[in-house]
Amino acid sequence: MTDSSIFRDKFIVVGVCGGIAAYKSVELIRYLVDAGAHVATIMTPDAEHFIGKTTLSALSSEPVHTSLWDDQSVIPHTRLGQKADVIVVAPATARLIGSYVAGISSDLLTTTLIATQAPVVVCPAMHTEMWEHDAVQHNISVLRSRGVFITPPEEGRLAGGDVGKGRLAATENIVEIMAQALQPHTGNGSLSGKHFLVTAGGTREPIDAVRVLANRSSGKQGHAIALAAASRGALVTLITTVEMAPARHGISQVQVETAQQMQDAVERIAPSADVIVMAAAVADFRPVLIADGKWKKEDGVPPIVLEATSDILAGLGKMKRPGQILVGFAAETNNLLANAQGKLERKNLDLIVANDVSLPQVGFGHETNAVVIISVNDDPITVDLASKTTIAQRVLDSVEKSLHRIQEHT
Ligand code: CTP
Repeated sequence: MTDSSIFRDKFIVVGVCGGIAAYKSVELIRYLVDAGAHVATIMTPDAEHFIGKTTLSALSSEPVHTSLWDDQSVIPHTRLGQKADVIVVAPATARLIGSYVAGISSDLLTTTLIATQAPVVVCPAMHTEMWEHDAVQHNISVLRSRGVFITPPEEGRLAGGDVGKGRLAATENIVEIMAQALQPHTGNGSLSGKHFLVTAGGTREPIDAVRVLANRSSGKQGHAIALAAASRGALVTLITTVEMAPARHGISQVQVETAQQMQDAVERIAPSADVIVMAAAVADFRPVLIADGKWKKEDGVPPIVLEATSDILAGLGKMKRPGQILVGFAAETNNLLANAQGKLERKNLDLIVANDVSLPQVGFGHETNAVVIISVNDDPITVDLASKTTIAQRVLDSVEKSLHRIQEHT
């Protein structure tokens, strides 16, 4: 859950466009005001067909703005954009997204977006056919490449009884991305404007109230990658079973324990990530039943039956969007290269970091690692025994190479 204190005393502009999801802006505005933010709401003229100006004025911290001509003395079209710490547009229609991409300042909301230096979070909501149209998808990728945060729509009920992808993201997802956008970061690193999702640590699967099935992962390699990405200017969401303390600027942490919790958190954040690094050691099996309370010795040896967990990374490979970079790890004890290459292909990855965990000082629990970075496009890169920080830097060098290749092809 997002720590709402990040919104305290922030000046937040909420843009509301004309769509059936406009009513959901009520929940978002209320959340932000309750979190201590000053919320200035801008409605497009079409939004007024869907929700009352009075309702949003009553909830916001100041009367709703609807027109370039609201307040002629203080030039509102630049004032709101200049004062904002973050701007969120929820819902954002295909028209608004198109105008924003093209820089057409036809109403107060697009004018404010064009006049701001603040981070912007765009939350599209529209019919599936519109969302999937090449024009909209192209515009979304242009916004991403300009560093705009996109909270992608979800599957669900749409206007007119239709069902499909296009429903406005849940408020909790929107505020999570807004919190990301507000994290201070250097802004001038080689990865600035990129959103990384990094997983770390070994998942733990409960057997009863006190016992778990675990693995030897310490989370150090994943944490090193999260830190290195943040220090290159990326915004990082770290989903980890091992808390990284102290908290660092540019990294927002989500704490999980089981494979299922990790999967839920990853699937929530993944659609908005530019790069996903699955460094976590996710359990492949979990007990089918978890005993109530503590299993007592006098009851004998517990009959533990295991079932397979989902392969999170393989799922991400299936729903990978164009331009997204997917990095996996392969912990092997034999046939390192062949096994890792197989995983790269099967899981539809861009890169895989393979390590032979049977070697001394390599992988699980150690401060050092030795890896081969296998890429779909380049020759394998061998990194001999080195600190996990050094390994992280080499992995990010390969990620940057992949990102550049994508940029050259768009
Ligand atoms: N992974 C995952 N979900 C799982 C298991 C693994 O997302 N349930 C990811 C890991 O985070 C890692 C990659 O898949 O990035 C490879 O994990 P690894 O344990 O090496 O391989 P598996 O696919 O589990 O195959 P095997 O255990 O047979 O080697």
